[in-house]
Amino acid sequence: MGWDPLFQDLKNAAEHERPKLGKQLNELKNLVSNALETAQTQWRSDAVHDQLDLSLPGRKPYLGRRHPLTKILDEIKSIFVSMGFVIEDGPEIESDYYNFEALNMPRNHPARDMQDTLYISEDIVLRTHTSPVQVRVMENRKPPVRIIAPGRVYRRDTPDASHSPFFHQVEGLVVDEGINFGDLKGVITAFAHKMFGSDIRVRFRPSFFPFTEPSAEYDFICVFCRGKGCRVCKNTGWVEISGAGMVDPNVFDYVNYDSEKYTGYAFGMGIDRIAMLKYGIHDIRLFFENDVRFLEQF
Ligand code: PHE
Repeated sequence: MGWDPLFQDLKNAAEHERPKLGKQLNELKNLVSNALETAQTQWRSDAVHDQLDLSLPGRKPYLGRRHPLTKILDEIKSIFVSMGFVIEDGPEIESDYYNFEALNMPRNHPARDMQDTLYISEDIVLRTHTSPVQVRVMENRKPPVRIIAPGRVYRRDTPDASHSPFFHQVEGLVVDEGINFGDLKGVITAFAHKMFGSDIRVRFRPSFFPFTEPSAEYDFICVFCRGKGCRVCKNTGWVEISGAGMVDPNVFDYVNYDSEKYTGYAFGMGIDRIAMLKYGIHDIRLFFENDVRFLEQF
């Protein structure tokens, strides 16, 4: 491409117009070439141009990602949803009634001590567990009930590697006719297998919660050493997960369920704890510091 075709084209113009057109074309050619040259000189001498290395690769847009706890919670939810549970939630600022009383823990009940409660006022607390959601759901629905309720909970704990003043639990509740402790064991075991592998064994130890009878704490075989004994399981071969049990008939009385007709089980589960086990994290505080170098690893 150049000017030549245009100049050759001149011969097609009427003879008396050729000199005028030729002159105009020459002027145009000079104008364009001068402008081009000026622009090129300017560009070459441009300070910015000297500092620009056009061969450098471009900058990638920085993509955010889901928090490790959100990822684990999504996994937990999908496992329980696949077993027919529906997801519920409830308020983090909770009344004394739902957090304690309707869970068979009247005022002055010594079990309240276990919970290291943060009080907002005499009757309002930051919920210490997700169990109040059990009561809220049962108040509003007739059996059969099959729910999980994930959420944040609060305790008056000094932060260290295994304590944080807030953390996350999933509550599970199933109520129907003929539900028994074997159903509870089956669901927890199925969860353990789906989350950590089918060789994970589960054990239940007798325990006490005012809202379940009988009550248990349940452990998984250590997901790191598979039971051989290591630092994480303190050489016991087992890691503690949470509490569980058969819903105490007194709790059914609070929500007007017929405890002669219905039975149910409930369980807790620490989301942070499961995430620490899944990802091999030894300090719960890392989840809440929002250090991008940590969060980027997931
Ligand atoms: N809410 C109990 C806790 O936080 C755990 C639990 C849930 C126990 C359900 C039994 C049944 O310690």
